[in-house]
Amino acid sequence: MRIDKLLSNMGIGSRKEVKEYIKKGLVLVNGNVVKKATEKVDEDNDKITFNNEELIYEKYTYIMMNKPQGVISASEGYTQQTVIDLLDERYHNRGMFPAGRLDKDTEGLVLLTNDGRLAHDILSPKKAVVKKYYARVDQILEKEDIQAFKKGIYLDNEQYLTRPANLEIISDYECFVFIEEGKYHQVKRMLSSRGKNVIYLKRLSIGPLNLDENLDLGEYRDLTDDELEALKNINIKNGGTMTDEKRKDLLKEEVVDKKVEAETSQRAVTTQEKPSSDVYSDVEKRDEETGVEVPTEQAVEEAREWSEENQM
Ligand code: URA
Repeated sequence: MRIDKLLSNMGIGSRKEVKEYIKKGLVLVNGNVVKKATEKVDEDNDKITFNNEELIYEKYTYIMMNKPQGVISASEGYTQQTVIDLLDERYHNRGMFPAGRLDKDTEGLVLLTNDGRLAHDILSPKKAVVKKYYARVDQILEKEDIQAFKKGIYLDNEQYLTRPANLEIISDYECFVFIEEGKYHQVKRMLSSRGKNVIYLKRLSIGPLNLDENLDLGEYRDLTDDELEALKNINIKNGGTMTDEKRKDLLKEEVVDKKVEAETSQRAVTTQEKPSSDVYSDVEKRDEETGVEVPTEQAVEEAREWSEENQM
């Protein structure tokens, strides 16, 4: 990578500022003063110092953001404002993307990274990473809704039965929803199928990662080491990120689940409405089909596109 790009990516300064630092002889690679901003360095092995301090290059960036409404969960290059646009310039051009999208009018936790493998793990339905949402609805929530969610909700226009989900009623019009998939507008559609329109939706967690309450809307911060570690340790389904209690609850519904599985497999699963660019879409890489085990960012993107055209 070019030294000026590397330094500006690391937040040392803008490209212009970095050039100045180089001119002043403040940047050394393996003990030698860098003469040209275009000089190439091996970011993993070269010893790079700036102003006599060694710089440790971090290959991947992991950020949690409290997404405000009106911003789309997409990468750079859209006409509408994206979550990447909200990041400081030094995070641009790093190939960052949201791992798990939120609707334009949904607020809350978005994980932004350029680590395709981690994103893949979080998005893969096989990993059953539970996302927690807070929702406000326009009709009174009833305990029958809880049961219905546990059995899975049939999404009519997709001919798809969701996996069992948890609904926790907080008050007449407020609830927490726990889902382990990421179908298009899933929470809204699940609640709507129970006759409740969502009037406000916020994502609070993705697996072990909780939205930092100190982040105002539009604010973001790097993940802590512990948060990253926890995300990297996401286990596969049946040991997954759902609390044991919730998992047991759902497993009790196994019989229902099986019946439902049999039912669903009989239904033709067809291509659905093509979501727009601001869709929420957690997706699965087709490992079995492609044999590719280490997903690249591009693979994640391909998988995302694939899932938008096919239901899993
Ligand atoms: N479910 C929705 O309906 N919208 C979101 O943004 C996320 C989950």
